[in-house]
Amino acid sequence: MGIRLHMSRTLLVTSALPYANGSIHLGHMVEHIQTDIWVRHQRMRGHTVYLICADDTHGTPVMLAAEAQGITPEQMIDKARREHMQDFAGFHIAHDLYYSTHSPETREYASEIYNRLKAAGLIRVRPIEQLYDPVRNMFLPDRFIKGECPRCHAKDQYGDNCEVCGASYAPTEMIDPVSVVSGARPVERTSEHHFFALGECETFLRQWTRSGTIPVEAANKLDEWFKSGLTDWDISRDKPYFGFEIPGAPDKFFYVWLDAPIGYIGTFKKLATDRGLDFDAFWEKDSSTELYHFIGKDILYFHSLFWPAMLESAGYRTPTQLFVHGFLTVNGQKMSKSRGSFITASNYLKHLDPEYLRYYYAAKLNASMDDIDLNLDDFVARVNSDLVGKYVNIASRTAGFITKRFEGVLATTLTETAVPLIHRFYAEAGAIADLYDAREYGKALREIMVLADAANQFVDGIKPWDLARDVARNDELQQVCTACLEIFRLLTLFLKPVLPVLAEKVEAFLDIPALSWSDAHAGAAMLGHHIKPYQHLITRVDPKKIEALVTASQETLIAETPAPSPAAPTLPPVADTIGIDDFSRIDLRVARIVAAEAVVEADKLLKLTLDIGVGQRTVFAGIKSAYTPEQLVGRLTVMVANLSPRKMRFGESQGMVLAAGDGTGLYLLSPDSGATPGLRIK
Ligand code: MSP
Ligand code: ZN
Repeated sequence: MGIRLHMSRTLLVTSALPYANGSIHLGHMVEHIQTDIWVRHQRMRGHTVYLICADDTHGTPVMLAAEAQGITPEQMIDKARREHMQDFAGFHIAHDLYYSTHSPETREYASEIYNRLKAAGLIRVRPIEQLYDPVRNMFLPDRFIKGECPRCHAKDQYGDNCEVCGASYAPTEMIDPVSVVSGARPVERTSEHHFFALGECETFLRQWTRSGTIPVEAANKLDEWFKSGLTDWDISRDKPYFGFEIPGAPDKFFYVWLDAPIGYIGTFKKLATDRGLDFDAFWEKDSSTELYHFIGKDILYFHSLFWPAMLESAGYRTPTQLFVHGFLTVNGQKMSKSRGSFITASNYLKHLDPEYLRYYYAAKLNASMDDIDLNLDDFVARVNSDLVGKYVNIASRTAGFITKRFEGVLATTLTETAVPLIHRFYAEAGAIADLYDAREYGKALREIMVLADAANQFVDGIKPWDLARDVARNDELQQVCTACLEIFRLLTLFLKPVLPVLAEKVEAFLDIPALSWSDAHAGAAMLGHHIKPYQHLITRVDPKKIEALVTASQETLIAETPAPSPAAPTLPPVADTIGIDDFSRIDLRVARIVAAEAVVEADKLLKLTLDIGVGQRTVFAGIKSAYTPEQLVGRLTVMVANLSPRKMRFGESQGMVLAAGDGTGLYLLSPDSGATPGLRIK
């Protein structure tokens, strides 16, 4: 029962190092929130955890962006780092250190690792041909060359692949290439490059990637890469380049992806120096500490091949595990500046509470590499129903009685009827902690909300406000409210990795020390304890704030290249005309989907319960292929309210919801946010 005790462990945890030449956005925040919840959970278990991160500062884009702004790269990365640190602090990310790859420590370890690889015979030098900008006197990275695709002749394609036909090619194969930097026609030039012989590490990598260090779905992806062969990795760039010079190779610089992961080591070195930690105990070959990297699926290649190969070959420890997440979509689509869904962290923080997003992401996150969707309507509904309606509600409905009637003192026994319920909370604490440990945050929150539902049912059944009217039942009132606040203490403990600031406010209100997993047992129950008066804890999400955020995200738009428009599909001709009278006989209403479930026996049907202001309707809708019940609950849609009811095998359908579709896509209609159930559509 309760929490299993483990030996205390020491963990070093990282999130991927964000590029210094861009703002932190809600996509990055998926990773940092996922990491932070895990770290806070481990700390609450009593483990020693160091969470570090840094800006990834080197490369041609930073060099050119600084130049365009008329500042030095150092000035540019300083400014970016200050902004990034502010964003992360705003979302309560508990870094021990947020550093920079442009540091003496990272320079030292980059040189050290390079020298060890060289001594092991794994560095090869040979000349390669590349496109060179004769006006700017620099070699051009693929992304800084545009031209005609050698295969399909589409114009204006990047130097590495064609967005129209999908071909990959070398920039030297392009027709009429142009330098994006100067507009000049590039010329071919030869220069010597340094390579890391990745192929030599194949045996090690095949074993390492199958030893539980990376998710199985990622290991399967790697098999494709093993099959196509591990080729030498080009780790050098010619000057001018913003980065670290390669020792013994004047005018040659380390490619940004060589020193970026070494930034994990350099950043920890700085922390170790500042705090007096034993650096070697973390990085030596047989280290007993644990090392975890949280990364997105786009950078799996670097972290599962180059990085462990470099560490192993240079005599360092390798990561304990890589935790790989998917990409964020907003309202089901890639983030887009023109739709206002490219939301920066700082813009979000100007409009909304960071803990709303922490909660919403947690509700969506699991241990897989699947993408996660931020649906803005669902976000409002979820936060309001779970945090305000279920969680905080328990305290706000009971704490007042303790303050007003019992001078803030809790009963010394719990009401008999609440004991089985509270014991369920103690008993499930271990399982919930294990779900956090396994990064199954969505499942953890579902378990917690099931308990919150049970607690609310208990309050509704026992009605403290009725007890309060009967002086003879004073003791009972105190015991009931005490039980509810004990439940509230436990819910707060369970939610604390996700909602650290709210939890702190609750700790202050209950006047208890910082909650940790070891407090989830009857011995820690707040009996006879004195609490402070209840203070307002959380405000409902106001949909208007979401609108304002989306608008502000559109306004900060600088310029976005329009996506190539896909060929227009052939649409059916418009139907016969009708009069306005025909139309107005249809009673169209705004409806809120209050419940949704799959009809098991029907491939296409979902059973929806709709609130249309004047009551509820049940509708069977053929939208199972496009939506999961979970995506729909809380959403607004439009329904035909006066369609004659239809008997179906599974029950009666009392209307229909409106959705557009052409056999391939299916799109449920919904009003703009702000609309309320029952509004008539005219
Ligand atoms: N600088 C490299 C990482 C070097 S680590 C030694 C980089 N930077 S990044 O800023 O592009 O991305 C940082 C992290 O944010 C990556 O793990 C990436 O997967 C993640 N994300 C960036 N955009 C994202 C989404 N839209 N959704 C989810 N995660 C995303 O890559
Ligand atoms: Zn092409």
